[in-house]
Amino acid sequence: MSNLVRFGISLDRGLLEKFDRLIGAKSYGTRSEAFRDLIRQELVEEEWHDAKEIAGAITLIYDHHKRELVNKLLDIQHDFGAIIISAQHIHLDHNNCLELLAVRGAPQKVQRLSENLKAVKGVKHATLSMSTTGKEIT
Ligand code: NI
Repeated sequence: MSNLVRFGISLDRGLLEKFDRLIGAKSYGTRSEAFRDLIRQELVEEEWHDAKEIAGAITLIYDHHKRELVNKLLDIQHDFGAIIISAQHIHLDHNNCLELLAVRGAPQKVQRLSENLKAVKGVKHATLSMSTTGKEIT
């Protein structure tokens, strides 16, 4: 038997028109799929505060000629080795490197790792993309 539940939503007409324009621009096929994504996004964001484990990605851009910087980044990564599940280094050009770290662990730890890396002098840009392990999201 399907677990699909249908239910009605009361919504101000103007708000619904705005929603339809938004989901049209985002290429959703149906309102239902757009609502499901909104709900999942809220659940995932809740995980960032409450869950024991999340998954995510950290990107770093830096100049590898600064040896102290490279050593510092490696020291930090070794300290957080338990939550780094993959690391990839790409040489963007003669000077600049892109490092991609796939991470899985407690959200506070993932954020601390990202902040520590970002704070290293000489890191040109750093981003943290927090997601979910997917276990609690259907
Ligand atoms: Ni490089």
